Amino acid sequence: MATIAPALPDLDGLIEPDRVHGSLYTDPAIFEAEMERIFRTAWVYVGHVSEIPEPGDYVRKTLGREPVIMTRDKQGEVHLLLNRCTHRGAQVCDRARGSSSAFRCPYHGWTFSNGGKLLGYPFNAGYDGTGAKKDLGLGRVTRVAEHRGFVFGSMAENGPSLLEHLGGAAEAIDRVCRLSPEGEVELTTGWLRHGVRANWKMLLENETDGYHPQFTHSSIFEVAESGIPALYGDKTEAVCRDLGGGHTENDLRPAFRALNQPLGWFGTTPDRVPDYVAAMRRRYGAEADALLVDGSSHAMIFPNLFIAEIQLFVLRPVAVDRTVMEVTAIQLKGAPDMNRRLLQQAVGSVGPAGFLLADDGEMYERAQRGVAASDPEWLVLKRGLHRERVDERGYPISNNTDELPQRAIWRHYRELMETGR
Ligand code: FES
Ligand SMILES: [Fe+2]
Repeated sequence: MATIAPALPDLDGLIEPDRVHGSLYTDPAIFEAEMERIFRTAWVYVGHVSEIPEPGDYVRKTLGREPVIMTRDKQGEVHLLLNRCTHRGAQVCDRARGSSSAFRCPYHGWTFSNGGKLLGYPFNAGYDGTGAKKDLGLGRVTRVAEHRGFVFGSMAENGPSLLEHLGGAAEAIDRVCRLSPEGEVELTTGWLRHGVRANWKMLLENETDGYHPQFTHSSIFEVAESGIPALYGDKTEAVCRDLGGGHTENDLRPAFRALNQPLGWFGTTPDRVPDYVAAMRRRYGAEADALLVDGSSHAMIFPNLFIAEIQLFVLRPVAVDRTVMEVTAIQLKGAPDMNRRLLQQAVGSVGPAGFLLADDGEMYERAQRGVAASDPEWLVLKRGLHRERVDERGYPISNNTDELPQRAIWRHYRELMETGR
C-alpha cells in the first residue's frame, strides 16, 4: 500500500545508551514516524480468540490507528478486517461487538461477509454488472498470526514471523496460560478504558519499571497488607530482564520460590480455591505445585501488550500526548473458583475505584507535563548500569529496581525506527 513515509528525525542526537531526549515524548513528527515504522510495520497485539468464540462473532479493535474488526467466519477462521467501506470510506461496523454473518454499510448499503468479501451492492445496474465486486472486499491486516490464542497483526508484507518477533516473550504468554488447568486464558470479563494525557512510551517504559512502585503506589501499600513492596525493593531476589526485541519483564519467581508457598504470589492459599488446585494437579501432576509457586508473568511485550500478572493491558497510542490503556481481568479456562477471585482483585486494583492505575496515570501525566520544560533536555536511564549481568540463558538481567528494561526498550525502538526491522 502506498503511504508517504514521514522524514525520520535524527535519533543519534536523541537516544543514547543511558539517556533519552525529552522531545521523543513531545515531537509530533516522531509520533507520526512511530505510527508508520512501528505500528504499521512490527507485530502488534490486536485481540484474543476468546473474545470471538463462535463463528460469526466479531469485536472491534485497533492496530495502531487503524480501526479493525476481528471476526470469526463460518469455517472458524479469524480475520482482521479494516473497518472502512471500500465504497466511500464509512465504517461498516459501529457496534463494539456482536455476532453477524455480514456487515452492511449504512451509507449506501454495500454488504460484506464476515470474512471480508463484498457480497453485493444495491441497484447494481449502476455498476455495469457485478464484475468489479471481487476487487472490492474489505481491506485487511496484511499478516495475522496467533500464539496460544493471542492474535497479532502486522501491516508489513515481509518480516520476522510472530514467533521470531516474540522470541523470549512467548514464554511470558505460555506461563500465564499454564496457570489454567486447560492451558488457556480467556478474556471474557469486559474492558475498562483509561485515557491519559501522556505519550504511549511513558506507559511502555513504566510497565516494567521496578523502581517506582514503593513511591508511586505508597498509599495503596500503606492501607493494604501486601508483599508487593518487598518485590520492588533494593534487597529483592526478583530481577528485571531484557528478553530481546524490546520485550522486557520483571521476573518475580526468584522471590516466590524463596517463599515457596503455592499461590503466595496471589496472596492466597490452596485451601481457599480447592477446586482450582485440584484441577491443576490433575492436569500437571507433580509439576502443579511449582507452577502455583511461580505464579504469572509480569512482561511488557513490545510495543503494546502488557501481561500484568492477573490483568492484561493494551496500550493504544492516540496522539503524541494521548494514550488509551485498555484493561481486562485475565480468566483461566477451567477455573471458576479462581476466576471469581481474579476478577475481584483486578477490579480492586485497576477498576474505577482502584488505586494502582490512578497512581500510574498521575505519574504519566506529570511526566508529560514535566518534559515540556526544556531544561534539562534529557531523561536519565543509568540506574543499575554497573551491575547488569547475564543469566544462564544469555538474557541480560539486573536488580528488579534497575533501568535495564528501559534501556532495552530504547535500543530496540531505535533499531526499528531506523531500519524498520
Ligand atoms: S460508503 Fe459504504 S456503501 Fe457507500
Ligand atoms: Fe505502577
